Amino acid sequence: MLSLCIPSLLFVCILANNYNGCAAKTNWEATPLSIGGTTSNPSAMDMNLRIERISRSEFGFSGTFFWNIDMDDSVTVEMRVLSSYSGDESDYKLTPMSIPPQKFIEYINTFYKDLFMPNLGNCTDLPVYETEYVPPWPKATYNFTRCALNGKGLPDYLADGYYKCEAIITAQPDIEVTVAAVLRVRTKMF
Ligand SMILES: *[C@@H]1O[C@H](CO)[C@@H](O)[C@H](O)[C@H]1NC(C)=O
Ligand SMILES: *[C@@H]1O[C@H](CO)[C@@H](O)[C@H](O)[C@H]1NC(C)=O
Repeated sequence: MLSLCIPSLLFVCILANNYNGCAAKTNWEATPLSIGGTTSNPSAMDMNLRIERISRSEFGFSGTFFWNIDMDDSVTVEMRVLSSYSGDESDYKLTPMSIPPQKFIEYINTFYKDLFMPNLGNCTDLPVYETEYVPPWPKATYNFTRCALNGKGLPDYLADGYYKCEAIITAQPDIEVTVAAVLRVRTKMF
């Protein structure tokens, strides 16, 4: 079941505001094809992430994320979810599951706390906030060890195809970091 609740979706597919949850109801399963990212300034933010097979049908991701900037109002995050039936680069189109840029601090109090952390659980040492974000957000190298998603917050229905999930974090001055994951989604056979 975890195979469909792809890890990589997480950085991103904080998708829908569908809090009802898990995977048992979904009509699809997904296989992660890649995870990675780019940074405009490796001394401010950087990452080293890879996909790992946990069992025959489960995948997770592991690696580190280096965060070395102050969490102020200038830090924004945007989520883009693109899909492509063929997987050809030129066919990817933005889906409505995308989330426009918002302040990272607002994101911590909503998607991060309600979807991201419950999905990740104990596979990471990212900060946990039970109620509200309390500054500061520590500068650190955060670790991820075979993180898999439990599917909370993911849509019940997805069409066959390739999905690219991108999280774009920006901050002053001129910092832009993109984390991208590509998944192959197939309709489940019952
Ligand atoms: C995560 O760790 C905490 C503290 O060690 C523990 O109480 C909790 O049960 C763990 N949660 C999961 C899902 O393993
Ligand atoms: C991540 O792991 C490294 C090496 O074990 C450790 O030094 C670092 O403190 C960890 N990061 C966090 C946020 O705990």
